[in-house]
Amino acid sequence: MYYCRGRLNVHKRDFLTLRDYTPEEIRLLIDDAILLKRLRQHGKTVLPYLTGLNIAMIFEKPSTRTRASFTVAIEELGAFPISYSAQELQLSRGEPVKDLGRVLSRYHHALAARVFRHSDLVELAKFSSVPVINLLSDQYHPLQALADYMTIMEKKGRIEGVKIAFVGDGRDNVFNSLAIAGVKLGAKVRVAAPRQYGPDPGVLGEEIYRRIEVYEDPFEAVRDVDVIYTDVFVSMGQEKEREERIKTFLPRYQVNAELLKRVGRDDYIVMHCLPAHRGEEITDDVIESPQSVVFDEAENRLHTSKAVLLYLLNPHW
Ligand code: CP
Repeated sequence: MYYCRGRLNVHKRDFLTLRDYTPEEIRLLIDDAILLKRLRQHGKTVLPYLTGLNIAMIFEKPSTRTRASFTVAIEELGAFPISYSAQELQLSRGEPVKDLGRVLSRYHHALAARVFRHSDLVELAKFSSVPVINLLSDQYHPLQALADYMTIMEKKGRIEGVKIAFVGDGRDNVFNSLAIAGVKLGAKVRVAAPRQYGPDPGVLGEEIYRRIEVYEDPFEAVRDVDVIYTDVFVSMGQEKEREERIKTFLPRYQVNAELLKRVGRDDYIVMHCLPAHRGEEITDDVIESPQSVVFDEAENRLHTSKAVLLYLLNPHW
């Protein structure tokens, strides 16, 4: 139970993975984000729907886009953001996550967290009396997926039937959320990954797993697609395996001019959640090409974060 402005004793809703959200809810969040973007473009920067609320962000890992967009989203909705690095909290000295959840939810109206282990986020949500929002875990990045599909909607005018090829690590957290949301919204999701980095049905869910197309050959996977998507080959926490991962993915899984020739049409777009390692998963010329929409995609993190905050915290929105 939690208290949210006009809403008393209502069961809280978390935002941990899009597996928990219906296609209708995901579509609504994207539509709301498009509306919020329009309002901002017309100078309506501050919308005081969340006045009087304060929202905590906890970062176990660094962040540029998520930290900045979420902070601005909170402020532009009239609420107050408070950011903690995990090192500043007793969490780093062994305080249990469940105690953190119980304590912080006595002060804040929502808790948002970027953690190494998704299981910690689930534990935080279990013991928090206020909504918990995933700012990226080792398994999912649902805020990124919302911004991705908002961008696809803007650039292609639709999501249903759009063909998307993700090239790289099929167990990547960004890919997992892209696949889950894509299948729910009717997109055709393909992934090209080395055999040992193929998608994990346990993380995606059997139903989503069954509905994506899995390739080993990226040249086959990108044929006739609308969207080519990639992400870094080595994320934070995977540095020990860096050499091995780079050897596995390069040069075959790099998004470069040669791969893009295989699309066979010229109206495709290139996406990347950023930060990018130019020269590894994507070349400089591709990220700077007219097909690249990566900076619009990054901007849309702001509008989609606002949509999620309003959905979870404002019953009148
Ligand atoms: N895409 C993304 O989550 O970026 P940051 O790691 O900079 O937040």
